[in-house]
Amino acid sequence: MPVHKVRPDISVLKDSLEVPGIGHLPVNSFVLLAAQPVVIDTGLGLPDRNFLEAVGSVLDPADVRWIWLTHPDRDHTGGIFDLLDAAPEARVVTTFLSAGLMSCERPLPLDRLYLLNPGQTLDVGDRTLTGFRPPLFDNPATVGLFDDRSGVCFSSDCFGGPMSSAELAHADDVAAVDVEELRAAQLLWATVDSPWVRNVDIEKFLGTFQTLLDREPELVLSTHLPPAHGITDSMIDTLGSAAGESAFVGPDQAALEQMLAGFEPAGEERRPAPGTPG
Ligand SMILES: [Fe+2]
Ligand SMILES: [Fe+2]
Repeated sequence: MPVHKVRPDISVLKDSLEVPGIGHLPVNSFVLLAAQPVVIDTGLGLPDRNFLEAVGSVLDPADVRWIWLTHPDRDHTGGIFDLLDAAPEARVVTTFLSAGLMSCERPLPLDRLYLLNPGQTLDVGDRTLTGFRPPLFDNPATVGLFDDRSGVCFSSDCFGGPMSSAELAHADDVAAVDVEELRAAQLLWATVDSPWVRNVDIEKFLGTFQTLLDREPELVLSTHLPPAHGITDSMIDTLGSAAGESAFVGPDQAALEQMLAGFEPAGEERRPAPGTPG
């Protein structure tokens, strides 16, 4: 996993996943070098990913004091138990609901939890982190955060967008993406990840952006977007326009069968004809 130091105190651990028909979805996690170091989300759990190694390229994992789990979806929990093992002093900052959802598969140890709701704060030595509920989310346990010292916003799934290539998904700055392409990608992701936006009361929905408007973060770090410098207003404008958009509808069985049929010739080639040696 490539690592990009986006600020002296913040590193992006980059990863991405190709979603057929949608694009290359960035799946970032972050290391915040506060006096008490914080890891924000823990990436994909795929066997070829070594999350601890990526963390270890920034700091000794044993020094991690907090693991802020924005929500317990599987693209955020990949390295969490390895990191808990490697960082004996670390506690998982998350919600009661998140801990409950984790317990459906593998419970987080209760004595390693720190339960924090939107609006509550965490003192990490040299700064305070403030939890907030991002305007868009796909899991009711979601809590993003503001670093009150740097002003950076960690927005979890919100502001995400699938990219047209793995290279763009791993870009150091989303400015590498064409403005219109970015807008379309973020609107698509809004309807994929938060299909409920089609039913919202527009005034109330726009009101959920107020915390972001008040804080005016210069840098937004989404799990599912390259780092976004200086474009918070336009990204808010994009997501605000998602209200009432039709929900994404994925491929159905007929489409899957068509896709599989498209794979068959290659499969046939690999399969030796009956009686063929070797
Ligand atoms: Fe999610
Ligand atoms: Fe996610």
